[in-house]
Amino acid sequence: MLSTRSLRTADCRASAVARPRMAIGRGRFQVLCASNAKFFVGGNWKCNGSVANVRKLVDELNSGSVPRGVDIICAPPFIYIDYVMQHLDKEKYQLAAQNCWISGNGAYTGEVSAEQLQDFGVPWVILGHSERRSLCGENNEVVAKKTAHALAAGLGVIACVGETLDQRNSGSMFQILNAQMQALVDEVKDWSKVVIAYEPVWAIGTGVVATPEQAQEVHAYLRKFCQSKLGTSIADKLRIIYGGSVNDANCKELSFQEDIDGFLVGGASLKGSSFVTICNAAGPKAKY
Ligand code: PGA
Repeated sequence: MLSTRSLRTADCRASAVARPRMAIGRGRFQVLCASNAKFFVGGNWKCNGSVANVRKLVDELNSGSVPRGVDIICAPPFIYIDYVMQHLDKEKYQLAAQNCWISGNGAYTGEVSAEQLQDFGVPWVILGHSERRSLCGENNEVVAKKTAHALAAGLGVIACVGETLDQRNSGSMFQILNAQMQALVDEVKDWSKVVIAYEPVWAIGTGVVATPEQAQEVHAYLRKFCQSKLGTSIADKLRIIYGGSVNDANCKELSFQEDIDGFLVGGASLKGSSFVTICNAAGPKAKY
């Protein structure tokens, strides 16, 4: 049987085919395709910032007007988390770390455990970012085990998946995504605090954003994958967010896509006004 969400997707596809693309965002499509999941926007500050920059960014974010019906998460480098926690408006924004260790506290020099994040009051962690996969050698199994451990410690996890340009061009994109997702499915028991970030590697930090159609195709595929492995009710509620060169100019059109439940933003999250605009792209997908 088709889920409500699948039916909506089918409706959307039908109307998307029938309508010219520019009309999509302005017309019925937006309402028909409103997702059930609460919109989620993450700002991944990566290894950027200084004391002065972080102060400025926090001030800009605090003065911005963002919808209450969107989960908004800021992920500063570890060293600035304390300052950001003290000064960022908690009514508007939550905190995430950009990584954590695969197990609990112990002799793991240079690492920070999920337990320490939980103890310090950081509710979210980004895991499996493509930069950690490619630069730090984190494979699917490591990412999945980290995810399971962080969830068990009480954190919410933004788990990243995505293909390289070579993988997309050579036709192995879905195989790559299957392997990344299957590793998570094998380890994760409770999906209620998981957000999947689809981040095509070729779009990260390049200025080459996926088209709304490219992103929607993969998001729908990932949801279908989860539906077949985890059941309709988990798949329908799962937030699948898009990351890769999202900015204040392209976010709105992406947000109209049925299976895009938010964004993971890198570069544009370092500019308060841009990030605030992106948070406001939720439109009717904000849930109050
Ligand atoms: P970008 O990064 O927005 O700068 O492309 C996204 C990410 O890596 O999470």
